[in-house]
Amino acid sequence: MLIPYINIFFLLLRTTRSIDTISMHQNISDGETIVSGNAEFELGFFSPGSSKYRYMGIWLKNTSLQTVLWVANRETPLLDTLGSVKLDNQGNLTLVGGSGKVIWSSNTSASGTNINLVAQLLDTGNLVITNSNITNIDIFIWQSFDYPGDTYLPGMKVGKNFITGRETYMTSWRSADDPSHMYITCTYDINTTTLRAIVTPSGKFEIWHLKFSNPEWMPVATIPEDFCDNYGVCDPYGSCTSATSPNCECLKGFERKNSDNDTSVCQRRIAFDCGPREGFLKFSSMKLPDTENAVFSSNMSLSDCEVACKNNCSCTAYANPNITSGGVGCLQWYGGLIDVRVFPQNGQDLYVRLAALALSAVLTLSGLILAFYIRRKWKKTSNAENS
Ligand SMILES: *[C@@H]1O[C@H](CO)[C@@H](O)[C@H](O)[C@H]1NC(C)=O
Ligand SMILES: *[C@@H]1O[C@H](CO)[C@@H](O)[C@H](O)[C@H]1NC(C)=O
Ligand SMILES: *[C@@H]1O[C@H](CO)[C@@H](O)[C@H](O)[C@H]1NC(C)=O
Ligand SMILES: *[C@@H]1O[C@H](CO)[C@@H](O)[C@H](O)[C@H]1NC(C)=O
Ligand SMILES: *[C@@H]1O[C@H](CO)[C@@H](O)[C@H](O)[C@H]1NC(C)=O
Ligand SMILES: *[C@@H]1O[C@H](CO)[C@@H](O)[C@H](O)[C@H]1NC(C)=O
Ligand SMILES: *[C@@H]1O[C@H](CO)[C@@H](O)[C@H](O)[C@H]1NC(C)=O
Ligand SMILES: *[C@@H]1O[C@H](CO)[C@@H](O)[C@H](O)[C@H]1NC(C)=O
Ligand SMILES: *[C@@H]1O[C@H](CO)[C@@H](O)[C@H](O)[C@H]1NC(C)=O
Ligand SMILES: *[C@@H]1O[C@H](CO)[C@@H](O)[C@H](O)[C@H]1NC(C)=O
Repeated sequence: MLIPYINIFFLLLRTTRSIDTISMHQNISDGETIVSGNAEFELGFFSPGSSKYRYMGIWLKNTSLQTVLWVANRETPLLDTLGSVKLDNQGNLTLVGGSGKVIWSSNTSASGTNINLVAQLLDTGNLVITNSNITNIDIFIWQSFDYPGDTYLPGMKVGKNFITGRETYMTSWRSADDPSHMYITCTYDINTTTLRAIVTPSGKFEIWHLKFSNPEWMPVATIPEDFCDNYGVCDPYGSCTSATSPNCECLKGFERKNSDNDTSVCQRRIAFDCGPREGFLKFSSMKLPDTENAVFSSNMSLSDCEVACKNNCSCTAYANPNITSGGVGCLQWYGGLIDVRVFPQNGQDLYVRLAALALSAVLTLSGLILAFYIRRKWKKTSNAENS
């Protein structure tokens, strides 16, 4: 009767608190956990897969397979079971090892008097540090949702916050046994509670569905499901289209040319000289390029944005991203346009700078002929590369 024995042993080891908070100066040590009010999420210490290391994290309470959603000390594992977490009177949540060494901390501090701080595991799976005196529960001193791991949970904000400038990315675990960051990044947005989105170590973005009859996660979709979902598969100034083969074409006004180092890249058909008659060609239904080279200004209309971009010779493109309220805001790119693709459903408008001559050429040429020309060109160069 080995199995029942192990189960009982396991239960004895795990003295589960039926509370969802860590209050000031209280500590949670390895073996203890806190559980969200709806009993769906649990916070404590665990070892992933076959690893012996200990991590502090949040997992789903009722699944037969260990489903870890968030890990505090991803890069700094505890080597033994002597770790503990506590909240100090400044609102700083700290994970210390047996020797008292600080392994991880939220590095937060609350201001004000009469503070009554708690760390609480909310029903959403969000671990927050909050002043329980404040009645507006949305004011958090810190929240784990600002530091996503490999799993998206509804309510997380992933991507670039253009107001604060902070970027949050999901990063995959290095392997099933090792939650350290892989820097495979991904931004996405789903809005339902029975779906779980993760970034896998191989760089795929998977959506899993929780089957409640026998609670277990089943994959329902895997992205990339097509070539264009991979990051930056086409060269700068190239555009990826799932529906065509080859998938990569240069943007209108650009063509494949051999560069100095014998690689063929999309380059302007006619170089621009920053003259007054230069303009912008509108590309509709596009996924906007990687914003790494972009500058965002709020409070600018589309026409202000055009003027600003035109006035700076280094500005290669602009767009009015559809993320700000009222559609006000201006993204300007300085440098190559990377990871552009055609998005027939949810695409946005992108305005790319072209020389005056290139602009008139593009506007008069039929798009079909140009596409044919570019494809022929592309075929030729890829044949040349293959031989
Ligand atoms: C945790 O709390 C216990 C008793 O509440 C105390 O004996 C122990 O020293 C505390 N550990 C840490 C690391 O603060
Ligand atoms: C978790 O499991 C317990 C006992 O099996 C059950 O009472 C509870 O309703 C389950 N909770 C969820 C959220 O499925
Ligand atoms: C939080 O605690 C850690 C570990 O003690 C410390 O290094 C850090 O400075 C603290 N941060 C704040 C803001 O108090
Ligand atoms: C803690 O926060 C302070 C101020 O924000 C910062 O200077 C310091 O580097 C942070 N420390 C850690 C360990 O993140
Ligand atoms: C905050 O809560 C503490 C403990 O519940 C209480 O003593 C204190 O008066 C409260 N402060 C305010 C400003 O409500
Ligand atoms: C996402 O869910 C929240 C709360 O359930 C809801 O208020 C919001 O409208 C939803 N957003 C979208 C885009 O469906
Ligand atoms: C060739 O040059 C392009 C830009 O001119 C650069 O992006 C690319 O990395 C270079 N390739 C190699 C193999 O050096
Ligand atoms: C944006 O415009 C509004 C109204 O015109 C103004 O109140 C606000 O201060 C402006 N914000 C910035 C960042 O310029
Ligand atoms: C053009 O924009 C870049 C990036 O914002 C900036 O560094 C540069 O000074 C600007 N040049 C002019 C002439 O405004
Ligand atoms: C923003 O997107 C919504 C839905 O995709 C669309 O209805 C709206 O027209 C867009 N607004 C702008 C300014 O592009």
